[in-house]
Formats: sequence, C-alpha cells, structure tokens
Amino acid sequence: MLMAQLRMRNAEVSDVDAIVRLVNRAFVAESPYVEGERINADGVHTMWPRGTFLLGEVDGMLTGCIFVEGRGERAHLGLVSVEPAQQGNGIGSQLMAAVEAYCRAAGFREMELRFINHRTELDRFYRRMGFAPSGVMEQPGTYRIKVPFHFVQMIKPL
Ligand SMILES: CC(C)(COP(=O)(O)OP(=O)(O)OC[C@H]1O[C@@H](n2cnc3c(N)ncnc32)[C@H](O)[C@@H]1OP(=O)(O)O)[C@@H](O)C(=O)NCCC(=O)NCCS
Repeated sequence: MLMAQLRMRNAEVSDVDAIVRLVNRAFVAESPYVEGERINADGVHTMWPRGTFLLGEVDGMLTGCIFVEGRGERAHLGLVSVEPAQQGNGIGSQLMAAVEAYCRAAGFREMELRFINHRTELDRFYRRMGFAPSGVMEQPGTYRIKVPFHFVQMIKPL
C-alpha cells in the first residue's frame, strides 16, 4: 500500500474543536485504564499558551496531532494522536519524525513523553523512534483510574 503523505502545520485557534475530537477518538485506546474522555475544549485552551499543537493532514483531513511543550532544554510531547481508522499505516512514525525536526529547529536538546505502563505497543513504537526509558515512573492521580497503572517516561536525546 502507498503510504499516506502527511502534511504538517501549526494549529490555529479555529482548530480546537477538531483537535478535541481527534484526541478523544485516538485516546479510546486508554479506555481500559482511565474513565471518560481525554480532553475537552477548555483543556486545549488551557494548554494553548504553554506550547504548540502540530497537526498532520492527509488530503486536507486532520489525521494526526501532537502537543509540544518546552520545559527548559527538554520538549515534552503530549496527546500524540492518529485518527483510529488510519493507525498502523505509518502516520504516527511520520508525525514523530516531523515533531523531532520541529524540536531540533527550536533548539531543544531532548524530547520526553510518558505513557501507561500496560501499553506495550507504545513501548515498541517509541523505541523504534529512538526513545529509551529514563527509569522515571510517575503515579497517576486516583481520579478516573479504572485499574492500577503507572506512567513510564521515555526520552530521546537530540
Ligand atoms: C500511538 C500512535 C500515535 C501510533 O500511530 P500509528 O500511525 O498507528 O503508528 P505507525 O503506523 O507509524 O506505527 C505502528 C506502530 O505503532 C504502535 N501502535 C500503537 N498503537 C497502535 C494501534 N492502535 N494500531 C497500530 N499500531 C499501534 C505499534 O507499535 C505499531 O508497531 P507494530 O507494527 O510493531 O505493532 C497511534 O496508534 C495512536 O494514536 N494511538 C492512540 C493514542 C495513543 O495511545 N497515543 C499515545 C499516548 S502516549
């Protein structure tokens, strides 16, 4: 199959509702572990001044998104999302390559992200993208938690 070509752009405020829909569709993957939706428009508006939402489009359709937040020399990546019907087609890999280029150009020295420890498919995915576990594990708050888990942190030096 021909790989879909992802076109990247920075989000605008008018994209907020589409971002919320995309992220919540993608984060159904967390539904075995966490109750309810991942984010709402207020949440995106709160994040807005802290970083940059990068969007990936295929044929003009919003297909992927990622939030980049600078924390000193480290870029924290959040809400990594690919439209569920399009997952497993290489779009997430293109999204990660694009965000890496963005982070390098912005002068960050490393990228960092975290995910629920039970999600071994993410461990595989991020290792393939050059991330390695930092050894840091964080406990979630008790709110909305369905089963015990912790967050695993991974880092990629740039
Ligand atoms: C994780 C995610 C961004 C990867 O994007 P993608 O377009 O599916 O990724 P690619 O096609 O480039 O790579 C596929 C790899 O991603 C991983 N993966 C994670 N979730 C997957 C899914 N639902 N379907 C297919 N692959 C998935 C697998 O490791 C797979 O590799 P494998 O063939 O060795 O199993 C995407 O699956 C997604 O949005 N998942 C739900 C939201 C989420 O969990 N985000 C990360 C939170 S930290």
